[in-house]
Amino acid sequence: MYTTLLIQTENNICIISINRPEKLNALNKTVINELSAAIDEVYINGDIRSAIITGAGQKSFVAGADISEFLQLDSAQGEELARRGQQMVFAKIENSPKPIVAAVNGFALGGGCELALACHFIYASENAKFGQPEVNLGLIPGYGGTQRLTQVVGRNKAMELLISGNMITAKEAMEYGMVNKVVTQEELLQKTKEILMIIQSKAPLAISKAIECVNNFDHTQRGYDFEIKKFGECFNTDDMKEGAAAFLEKRKPGFSGR
Ligand code: COA
Repeated sequence: MYTTLLIQTENNICIISINRPEKLNALNKTVINELSAAIDEVYINGDIRSAIITGAGQKSFVAGADISEFLQLDSAQGEELARRGQQMVFAKIENSPKPIVAAVNGFALGGGCELALACHFIYASENAKFGQPEVNLGLIPGYGGTQRLTQVVGRNKAMELLISGNMITAKEAMEYGMVNKVVTQEELLQKTKEILMIIQSKAPLAISKAIECVNNFDHTQRGYDFEIKKFGECFNTDDMKEGAAAFLEKRKPGFSGR
């Protein structure tokens, strides 16, 4: 059904591989449309409890938006490209109630770096490279990179990456706080699946509320009030009653996701 994605679900983990290795998995219009549909499926399919986004091949996660689609665009069309991608893919990934983790297996440049940053966290292989090289093309990021990168690594590091176009290694990206774990390329998918299996053993509604709270981070009272509201909502769930009862009865909880 997809022409630019490979999709495989195992142990309730949906593995979405962007599959244009001959173009280093660059994000053209079809990839954006298909990613949007694949993320919708993650939201609605009850058999899917989490997802991994990765790139096909050994060399690249995603080497950016497809530059061959840029030359004919005017300013309004450029805006539309960014708005569509942000709404259809990047915001949907970030706001997914189910965890979506990036397994970055090579170049994560431009839109690829932005795609990884939109995921809930990032595992990377040793050969991964991160960067926002848009300034080389007379561009800036349009899929949320100036905002998410600044939030993740802070103003000065984000500024340097964004205005130099320099690439950093997986190890440097980990030091910057962009990447949670660096492993060999052979281990990458397995290690990503392992952390998702741990996450999938927890209460699904609590997971989605924790994601919502982190996404609504606000150092003012609004952030704390949001957390209070979500905490209260947990008490309406069967999972909270089951989790607390199981602890008190010294048994493993059986969460229903209700
Ligand atoms: N858009 C469209 N095509 C891309 C692409 C992109 N973002 N990134 C790579 N490709 C294509 C190349 O044009 C090439 O296609 P061809 O074989 O038909 O000529 C193919 O993918 C392989 O890339 P190539 O540049 O030959 O590989 P490399 O190992 O020499 O260099 C990179 C790898 C990632 C450093 C280089 O491809 C690159 O700089 N890509 C663009 C990164 C970028 O600016 N991204 C932000 C876009 S907004």
